[in-house]
Amino acid sequence: MAQVELSNISKRFGAVEVISGLNLSIEDGAFCALLGPSGCGKSTMLRMIAGLEEVTDGTIRIGTEDVTHAAPKSRGTAMVFQSYALYPHLTVAENITFSMSLAGAPKAKQREAAERVAKMLQLTHLLDRRPAALSGGQRQRVAIGRALVRDPKVFLFDEPLSNLDALLRVQMRLELAKLHGDLKTTMIYVTHDQVEAMTLADLIVVLDKGKIAQAGSPWELYNRPANRFVAGFIGSPAMNFLKGQGDGQGVVLPDGTRLAVAQHMAKGAPVELGIRPEHVKVATEGPIRGRASVVEYLGNTSYAYVETDHGPMVVEADDQPVKAGDQLALVPDLAKAHVFDATGQAL
Ligand SMILES: Nc1ncnc2c1ncn2[C@@H]1O[C@H](COP(=O)(O)OP(=O)(O)OP(=O)(O)O)[C@@H](O)[C@H]1O
Ligand SMILES: [Mg+2]
Repeated sequence: MAQVELSNISKRFGAVEVISGLNLSIEDGAFCALLGPSGCGKSTMLRMIAGLEEVTDGTIRIGTEDVTHAAPKSRGTAMVFQSYALYPHLTVAENITFSMSLAGAPKAKQREAAERVAKMLQLTHLLDRRPAALSGGQRQRVAIGRALVRDPKVFLFDEPLSNLDALLRVQMRLELAKLHGDLKTTMIYVTHDQVEAMTLADLIVVLDKGKIAQAGSPWELYNRPANRFVAGFIGSPAMNFLKGQGDGQGVVLPDGTRLAVAQHMAKGAPVELGIRPEHVKVATEGPIRGRASVVEYLGNTSYAYVETDHGPMVVEADDQPVKAGDQLALVPDLAKAHVFDATGQAL
């Protein structure tokens, strides 16, 4: 177990800077998710922590050690890749203990370790099979087992569940949460799936083009997004944004509608009001009017896509039977609204 400190990390590939001056402190035992859209630098960050990629600038500390230029093997990290990268000619047990066999560990010790790890991952009955005879979820568990057996100080996961079907992802997600609860080892988990990040992590780091857009707990990211990027990235369906102008404690929409909020804005300042679909009520009267173009029924709730005078909006319409074509009035719960200035910073 160890804490991980990244100080002023930059990474350039030739002239292209993909990580810029990134600072991050991950507590010992934390589950940290690196979350962001494709190409924002998540895998590069993880590979630099693992030592598979050199940093251009900055320092990486794991526990008390500066590992910035240490060999991957000596960092005490173990990485699980999206492509499980199992050896097809080896059994599950041999795959799990591959690093031990390279290090020349006695056969009996290897078997003992394979059995210990297999028990944690429900692989015991599969130890003598080869990867070709396993399901995707079982293969992913073997890849996790191979990391577990090394007893690392820090686990590094790069989108480990993205090759699994939806049901299996949920199941493996729960297993990972349990594993972290049992081991209490620091885990750094790369994903572009906000649900995975929200459900697994105690610290979510949202990356935007190689910079931290916000780092915080799932609660903070959902309830107190620091900027428009995070506000739009966390939450599904995504937050609605309405352009307007500030007016003391109100946002004035282009048609003159004034929405009173808690945030204070200078008169005439260009702002955007952000409101989540779950914080808008469908009513017979309200400040925003529009026509439902599509209604998605999900069983426990439904979402109406509404063409309003202020652009398209999505609203949760759980207690209201709404059909496509309906004229709707929308009432945003302004106590839960967010306001962003012209630079995208939350007020
Ligand atoms: N070896 C390399 N040479 C040049 N550019 C690279 C190299 N590796 C990565 N990049 C660039 O760095 C950026 C970040 O890549 P990275 O793989 O870290 O993204 P990511 O956030 O993991 O994306 P994804 O979700 O698609 O896996 C991308 O623009 C990518 O093209
Ligand atoms: Mg990646």
